[in-house]
Amino acid sequence: MRVAVIYGSRLGATRGIAERVAARLGVAGLDVRIESAERLRDLPAADAFVIGSGIYGQHWMKDAAALVKRSTAVLRAHPVWLFSSGPLGRWATSGDAIEPREIAGFRRAIQPLDHRVFAGALDRTALKSSDLSLTERVVSRRFLPEGDFRDWTAIDAWADGIARGLSIG
Ligand SMILES: Cc1cc2nc3c(=O)[nH]c(=O)nc-3n(C[C@H](O)[C@H](O)[C@H](O)COP(=O)(O)O)c2cc1C
Repeated sequence: MRVAVIYGSRLGATRGIAERVAARLGVAGLDVRIESAERLRDLPAADAFVIGSGIYGQHWMKDAAALVKRSTAVLRAHPVWLFSSGPLGRWATSGDAIEPREIAGFRRAIQPLDHRVFAGALDRTALKSSDLSLTERVVSRRFLPEGDFRDWTAIDAWADGIARGLSIG
């Protein structure tokens, strides 16, 4: 069973989640490959897909969203799990995370088995001035708490659920 884990990540937090999910699926005996959406023109050949993106201004990153949109026929025909990485600080634990705007459409188009919003991370020291626009930098400095809020226990449990789903199904 080949699983492709694909991520859109600007500052590395989502890549970290994708790597963790991929490692966990590998330990469960699945044949896993991991790819950045930025480098993919088309989906790699796989029997199942896990696709995630960092959230920016309530949207998925462009490369990841565009890859899903142009691959709906393939994705609809396979088991797909989606995740987003975003909420920071008190939003990370409040439990009422806002879904990125693309997700409702993805649900209709590809009927994923799940979509989860995981808490994200923001390390301002890792920010190069080219990483964000001026507006984004101002918004992030004023309103976004810095820190790593990723919940590895929740991420591991989610990955284990995927592994179980694939070995049973
Ligand atoms: C400019 C900017 C805008 C953001 N907008 C949102 C948002 O709308 N919703 C959200 O939940 N998180 C938002 N975040 C937090 C990021 O989604 C979070 O840091 C995420 O883990 C980053 O993923 P990445 O490191 O893989 O790019 C924003 C962060 C920045 C820097």
